[in-house]
Amino acid sequence: MSSRDSFSGRFGIIAAAVGSAIGLGNVWRFPYVCGEYGGGAFLLIYLLCVVLMGLPIMLAEFSIGRRAQSNAYRAFRKLSPAKPWYLIGVMGIVAAFVILSFYSAVGGWTIEYFIRSVSDNMSGDHAQQFKNFIATSYLPLIYQFIFIALSFAIVMLGVKKGIESSSKILMPLLLLLLLILCIRSVTMDGASEGLIFLLKPDFSKITIDSVLCAMGQAFFSLSLGMGCMITYGSYIKRNENLTYIAGMVAGADTLIALLAGIAIFPAAMALGIQPDSGPGLVFITLPGMFEQITGGMVFSTCFFLLLSIAAITSAISLLEVIVSFCVEELHIKRKPATLLVSLCVFLLGTICSLSLGIIPELSLFGKSFFDLMDFSSSNLLLPIGGLFIAIYVGWIMKKRFTARELTEGGVKNYLFIRLFFFLIRYIAPIAIIVVFISRLLRSDL
Ligand code: PHE
Repeated sequence: MSSRDSFSGRFGIIAAAVGSAIGLGNVWRFPYVCGEYGGGAFLLIYLLCVVLMGLPIMLAEFSIGRRAQSNAYRAFRKLSPAKPWYLIGVMGIVAAFVILSFYSAVGGWTIEYFIRSVSDNMSGDHAQQFKNFIATSYLPLIYQFIFIALSFAIVMLGVKKGIESSSKILMPLLLLLLLILCIRSVTMDGASEGLIFLLKPDFSKITIDSVLCAMGQAFFSLSLGMGCMITYGSYIKRNENLTYIAGMVAGADTLIALLAGIAIFPAAMALGIQPDSGPGLVFITLPGMFEQITGGMVFSTCFFLLLSIAAITSAISLLEVIVSFCVEELHIKRKPATLLVSLCVFLLGTICSLSLGIIPELSLFGKSFFDLMDFSSSNLLLPIGGLFIAIYVGWIMKKRFTARELTEGGVKNYLFIRLFFFLIRYIAPIAIIVVFISRLLRSDL
């Protein structure tokens, strides 16, 4: 995407943004944090966060990008030259590195599980198998390397065509497969308990930690708060409706997360797996369910293949944020830039992987390096980025510029514009600040 041309029409940009949003965040991270923080209550807060913060901030990012026609860093330099707002772009680059470090590890796990499915090597005690895999061998590093190498190759070849065509075909397939898994999951013996866990909010389980994590999960899953959607916004043509595109992306993303929840919790309960089993939840539950499906191996192969691809399309959107900064701002050529960035990601990623496995000493503040990267990116970096983006669009960027982005090719309704400004000026920033302060007041880390 070195020349700033547009995607091929509305569907192209939706496919690309959906490709970034839908990934491990929906199928791996959503169920595991939802399970850890109480199921239904978490889901409810998550949905609120998507509507009250996620959607307005996504629109804000699109507006900045389309107005400035550039990546996040340059956008703020162009729109507010003498001010340090460009630091949002810098923070986004840091966030992209941090996320990629653990994302690539989990991406590697999905590739490993794909290969296991193909070779029909998945029976036995799944929890133990997963533990053996991540905790006792160097194998995860090899798969992490493969995951990064695949993403690297696509970024180096230029992403546009790759993301567009893969998202167009593969996302609907992922949706279909998840639907089938949902049906199987809810029809297992003892499944209803899992459905109740996911859909019936138990308000006594709401703590400030669960609110912080639900908010962080919304930012993570929608790829917000780090400039990714600013860059995509710059590729959206003037005659396109930003609200429609943001609605489609957020809607598709939330649907996939919900389906992943419905596919996983009932099956987990039916198989006697605790919903708070942590990052391994999906990798323990689904293989158990595939065993109970006729032709499970075929389903398993397709599922982990599609999930690996969904993970790669998200990873390349993260890589692209860093690489385009190196190319457009530091004037490094695309190939060496991509190679250098991928190498750095692999180094950081290695520490993440090893901290869950053979070198558990790699920990800080009582958390493994993996958990620390996972926690700090979603629950700190992205919401802080989102906070500043909301403040920027709500209070700094001229209101008429934003209104123009929203109305051109889009909604001309006065009430809608007012609602947007209300959310972006007050609700989103205040909510983020309140959550942060309440969490800090509970002083223990
Ligand atoms: N949204 C992606 C996912 O759900 C992860 C991601 C986060 C991608 C931030 C880009 C930016 O898997």
